[in-house]
Amino acid sequence: DTRDPTSLRTPIVAVLGHVDHGKTSLLDKIRGSAVIEGEAGAITQHIGATAVPLDIISSIAGDLVDPEDFDLPGLLFIDTPGHHSFTTLRSRGGALADIAILVVDVNDGFQPQTLEALDILKRSQTPFIVAANKIDTVPGWNANEDEPINDTYESQSERVRQRLDEELYEIIGNLSDEGFSADLYWRVQNFQRNIGVVPVSAMTGEGVPDLLTVMMGLSQRYMKEEMEIDVAGPGVGTVLEVKEEKGFGTTVDTVLYDGTIRADDKIVVGGQNEPIVTDVRALLQPRPLAEIRTESRFEKVDEVGAAAGIKIAAPDLADAMAGAPVRVVRDRDLDEVIEEVQAE
Ligand code: GTP
Ligand code: MG
Repeated sequence: DTRDPTSLRTPIVAVLGHVDHGKTSLLDKIRGSAVIEGEAGAITQHIGATAVPLDIISSIAGDLVDPEDFDLPGLLFIDTPGHHSFTTLRSRGGALADIAILVVDVNDGFQPQTLEALDILKRSQTPFIVAANKIDTVPGWNANEDEPINDTYESQSERVRQRLDEELYEIIGNLSDEGFSADLYWRVQNFQRNIGVVPVSAMTGEGVPDLLTVMMGLSQRYMKEEMEIDVAGPGVGTVLEVKEEKGFGTTVDTVLYDGTIRADDKIVVGGQNEPIVTDVRALLQPRPLAEIRTESRFEKVDEVGAAAGIKIAAPDLADAMAGAPVRVVRDRDLDEVIEEVQAE
């Protein structure tokens, strides 16, 4: 493959699921594994998202992912809250994502927000896989830190294996009740037709190599064409949240899924009544933890490219709406951009 990998954008992965089923822990585990691999610098914390580059994914996945086989730059994970009151954040995250991970606690099984997340994915037709999490809590489990699922499964007693199988088949049954044909991921040939279930533990890291491998495979195989964008073109994104920020006024936390946004761009943002035309005052990213003192939690950047999570500070954002589009004007016709924002 001679394609230039820098012309493909990072797929956006939403992590969805019921409260406490382990979404944040799973992302923490991936971040933590990268620290152990000594490459923490390469994982970057965005506003509302975590970018994991391909070389980190392949170092965590070991033999399962050969970077030579992939030309997508990595994955951008968006964590979402599982509490029932955050329906809008979940549906925005789900609608915006290219692919999703539905996290289900193997003991707790399907719960109200699991079903809600499934509905969101169904409506937005987002391809997804199921992470059957907390396998380490199966009574008698013999933990093998960070191992692929097949290796750790082999080292469990017959009883433990049976118990895990039962719980996994219950999840597969629940998916089938909701109209999804699902199976354990290693039996799935076509991930567009069938939902793959990946047993994992966010605590011990077991199955995490498999999860990352399946996500990379899924994006490479089924979404590569959609990732071919004009990387340097005027940015397009979605507002996840509108927030007051000390020293910056009203800001919009945005996921950029196309092109670039620069600190001197004019933008159009969907508003309560009409599109807001404004000039970017600052593009803000979280400061690395080590550097946080009393000053701003954010650092200013000159430019970001898709896919990225970014906080945009600009005048007149008070009427901006969560879920609304954000479009960079740059050398485009302003009226045309306003029309596009209105139409969305
Ligand atoms: P919300 O953001 O509130 O929806 O929850 P969440 O899905 O992000 O869950 P979180 O990662 O905060 O985990 C909830 C609890 O489950 C924490 O106490 C975790 O330590 C625990 N937990 C998560 N994953 C695992 C796992 O694989 N094994 C075990 N034993 N505990 C886990
Ligand atoms: Mg969480």
